[in-house]
This record gives sequence, structure tokens and C-alpha cells, in this order.
Amino acid sequence: MTPKRVELRSFGGPGVIRVVEDQTLPEPGAGQVRIRVEASSLVFTDMLIRRNLYPVLKLTLPLTLGYDLVGHVDALGQGVTGIAVGDRVADLTQIGSNATHVVRPASGLVRVPPDLDATRAEPLILSYLTAYQALVREAEAPAGGKVLVYGASGAVGNAALDLCLALGLRAVGVASSRSRETVTAKGADFVAYDAPDAGAQLDRLSRERGGFDAVVDPARGEPLSRVLSRLAPRGRFVALGFSAPFRSAGGAGNGIASIIGKVKFGLEFLRIKWLAARARQTRRVTFYDISERRAAHPDWFHDDLSTLFALLQEGRISPRIDRVFRLHEVRQAHEMLEAGGVQGRLVLDLRDA
Ligand SMILES: NC(=O)c1ccc[n+]([C@@H]2O[C@H](COP(=O)([O-])OP(=O)(O)OC[C@H]3O[C@@H](n4cnc5c(N)ncnc54)[C@H](OP(=O)(O)O)[C@@H]3O)[C@@H](O)[C@H]2O)c1
Repeated sequence: MTPKRVELRSFGGPGVIRVVEDQTLPEPGAGQVRIRVEASSLVFTDMLIRRNLYPVLKLTLPLTLGYDLVGHVDALGQGVTGIAVGDRVADLTQIGSNATHVVRPASGLVRVPPDLDATRAEPLILSYLTAYQALVREAEAPAGGKVLVYGASGAVGNAALDLCLALGLRAVGVASSRSRETVTAKGADFVAYDAPDAGAQLDRLSRERGGFDAVVDPARGEPLSRVLSRLAPRGRFVALGFSAPFRSAGGAGNGIASIIGKVKFGLEFLRIKWLAARARQTRRVTFYDISERRAAHPDWFHDDLSTLFALLQEGRISPRIDRVFRLHEVRQAHEMLEAGGVQGRLVLDLRDA
């Protein structure tokens, strides 16, 4: 079989994406396995990487896109034990997994139950694990707690609402008015950030609930002081992304809009990191980064992802998938990511590639 992957030779809009074929399969070295990928990411973060706007990774070209994967092990490197050809696994790659064949260290892989569909299991890796660890590990949301979720129709935010439902947390979700159904379908109260009185609505919901125990924010749209004023006395604010400054600066454009987007984006990132460092004692404000957290707690990565696969198997969570794309449609998928308004997740299906 001819291996294929989604390659960038320059940074920029969806037009820089190329699907390329390689002459030979990649070979696993010592301690590594080769994985035949079934499904991989198509998310906002892949778009940031394509535009070289991703603040936490130094990128060099050429590169293969793809933040995570579900697949089958199809070759073992020297010295690999405890895993066999045919085993089903998941991994977080940051880049490299929008490909039919990927070589990864065997030690970090998490087993995926054989009966889960790959396109339903893949969203659990980056999107759901981020939401789960933000709620459970960072915010330590108490049983029956009250949660405010920004970006609530998107990949991470909608996952957070789904998890609130599964974990018995009472959620309010914030997204644009076009995304109301995607938010309320997860049992959350809805506030449209484009409504003229959005801030006042959120203030009222916060007062009625005695403040929020956890605020999960992948968007970073509202002034921080206003968001923090809605926390319960022991509540925690978890920042984890910046979709709002990207959109408001016309970040999907080229030229000056893209430069302004990059600057606004970088400043907001630095501000949150600084605040989180200052608030380290109380952990009232934190910045969550999935890769940092995996490096510090590989056991949490393994255990929490296994918990999510079990929740999916039991039917207690249900990722909202807007559309599944094939490899030859990947540029079209990125155009959709650029336009915004994706409801839940896009997924790349590589099974027939
Ligand atoms: N730190 C980590 O470990 C980590 C992990 C995963 C993702 N992320 C980051 O998290 C961010 C979101 O990722 P994603 O994949 O969830 O993106 P996404 O699927 O594009 O979702 C973005 C969401 O933000 C909403 N939104 C836009 N402007 C908003 C505003 N002013 N107020 C409230 N909501 C607003 C959108 O609503 P409408 O579509 O209705 O406008 C949508 O629901 C990105 O910056 C990504 O890089 C970080």
C-alpha cells in the first residue's frame, strides 16, 4: 500500500495543503511502533499550526499536520513488549498524524476498545481529554457544581458540556446565536455572545447560582475581570484557548489582518500565562495545556483517556460530529475551519485512504 499524508511546505491558508504519497512505509526504531491510522484530527488548532500561529510549538517545514490519532499497530520496533500487531491504540501527536502510517513511541499509547468506531473515538483524544482535565483536574468541579463554558458549540466547549451532563454538573454554555441548538442539546442553558445584553445575562445567571464553581474558556472573548467576578468564592477559571481574539481580528484573513490577529493572540496568551503564574497558590486562574499536562502526568493522560473511552462505550457521552472528511477532501475541511461555525467536531477518516 502507498502511504499518504497531509503535508505543508509553507505556512498559510488552506491552499498550502498538499496530500502527498511516499515511496516507502516509515519503519519503527527501537521502542517504537508503526500505526495504520484510522482517524485523525481536523480542528481549530490544526488551522493555527497551518498558519504558524500556534503559540506553544516551534514549527519547522516541511511538516505533516495532525494532532491526534486512532489506529491499529501494524509493525513493532526492536524491544517493544506488551503490545502486539493488530492492537488498537490512540495517541496525541501535535503534528504528524493526518497520515495513513505513523511511527510513535510504544510507551505513550493508550488502548482503544475494539468495538468503538474510529471517527467517534478520535474526538475523545484532544477535544474531550482537554475538556475533562479542565473540569476534573484543573477546576476540580465539585459534585453537582455549576459550570460556565465558553466556546460551547466548538470542539472543546461542546465536549465540556457533554461531560457536564455525564458527570452531573449544571452548565451554562456561551456561543453565537447560530449555535443555540448545539448547546441546548447537551442540556445546558444558553447565552449568545452576540446578543447585546450577553454580559448582563451571564451576570444574572451567575447571581442566581451563587457564582460558578468552574469556568472553562477556550474562547477568551469577555474581559477577564468580568469573567472572574462571576466565580463562586472557591471557584476556578481555566483558560485554554483563544478562538475569540483570532476571529475578532479577522485572523482567517491574510496580510495585515493576520498580523494583527497574531499579535492580539500572542498578547492574550502571555497575559493569561502571567496571571496563572501569579495565582499559582490559590489556582483561581489557571492556563491548561494538554501537552504540558501529559508530560507532567503521563498516568493522568492514560487513565483519563481510558475513562473517556469507557464513557463512550457505556453511551454516557456522545461527541457531536458536524462532518467526517476523507483524505482527498482535507483542504475543504480546512476551509470550513477557517469560516468558523463548525458544530462540534470535524474528523478525518483515513480508513480507505
Ligand atoms: N490548551 C489546550 O490544551 C487546548 C486543547 C485543545 C484546544 N485548545 C484551543 O482552544 C481553542 C478552541 O478550540 P476548539 O477546537 O474548541 O475551537 P472551535 O471548534 O473552533 O470552537 C470555537 C468556539 O468558540 C466560540 N466563540 C467564538 N468567539 C467567541 C466569543 N467571543 N465568546 C464565546 N465563544 C466564542 C465559537 O462559537 P460560534 O462558532 O458559535 O461562533 C465556538 O463554539 C483554540 O484556541 C484551540 O487552540 C487548547
